[in-house]
Amino acid sequence: MINNSNGIFISFEGIDGAGKSTHIQALADLFKEANLHVTLTREPGGTELAEKLRQMVLNETMDPLTESMLVFAARRDHLKNVIQPALELGHIVICDRFTDATFAYQGGGRGFDINILKQLESWVQGIGDKFIEPDLTLWFALEPEIAAKRLQAARTPDRFESQSVQFFSRVHAAYQQRADESPKRFVMINANQPREDVWAEIHKTIINKNWLTTHHNK
Ligand SMILES: Nc1ncnc2c1ncn2[C@@H]1O[C@H](COP(=O)(O)OP(=O)(O)OP(=O)(O)O)[C@@H](O)[C@H]1O
Ligand SMILES: [Mg+2]
Repeated sequence: MINNSNGIFISFEGIDGAGKSTHIQALADLFKEANLHVTLTREPGGTELAEKLRQMVLNETMDPLTESMLVFAARRDHLKNVIQPALELGHIVICDRFTDATFAYQGGGRGFDINILKQLESWVQGIGDKFIEPDLTLWFALEPEIAAKRLQAARTPDRFESQSVQFFSRVHAAYQQRADESPKRFVMINANQPREDVWAEIHKTIINKNWLTTHHNK
């Protein structure tokens, strides 16, 4: 934990269709009911500029370095204008995807150089003498075949969602790698169970952290 403001930074991660968006509002509401301020946001995006970059990344074809730089450019804008100010105010920042997704999709999925991603991460998440990263990452782990079935039932796939099951297996493996590198930050949520059981795992994780009563004791 290197983010030393009063706020708490939580990211949601996992492959498309794992169930992140299904639970993110409920988590925000849990903190609000405890009278804590919540900033709910998403990546790529979260600011006007970053949302424009998101549209480019999701809809246009480009080489992996271009794509990675656009994703990290969006992240820098989002971090400086939304996340960091909210953390300074002591808010709970909940973000639908963050840097682990870049390692998973651009690194694992598309096979882009992890060392370049690490370099970009250190530049983009360094603000002054601080390195900003989530205090907690809830990783929704789900077999790609099951996630694909859920999405087929739900909506038209975008450029990433139309990728193969093999692609998502590489994405999953890259998430596993990130989890292994940061075992304290990552909590794996078993997403292959009914919604209320997934929620119970999320709820238990937050209760165990003691974050509903105080947020000074990260
Ligand atoms: N536990 C569950 N069991 C069955 N279906 C679920 C479960 N959780 C979510 N779903 C359904 O699966 C679909 C994908 O869920 P959701 O949109 O939350 O995934 P996501 O992780 O946010 O995906 P994306 O990365 O594409 O935004 C939705 O139709 C949702 O209603
Ligand atoms: Mg979602």
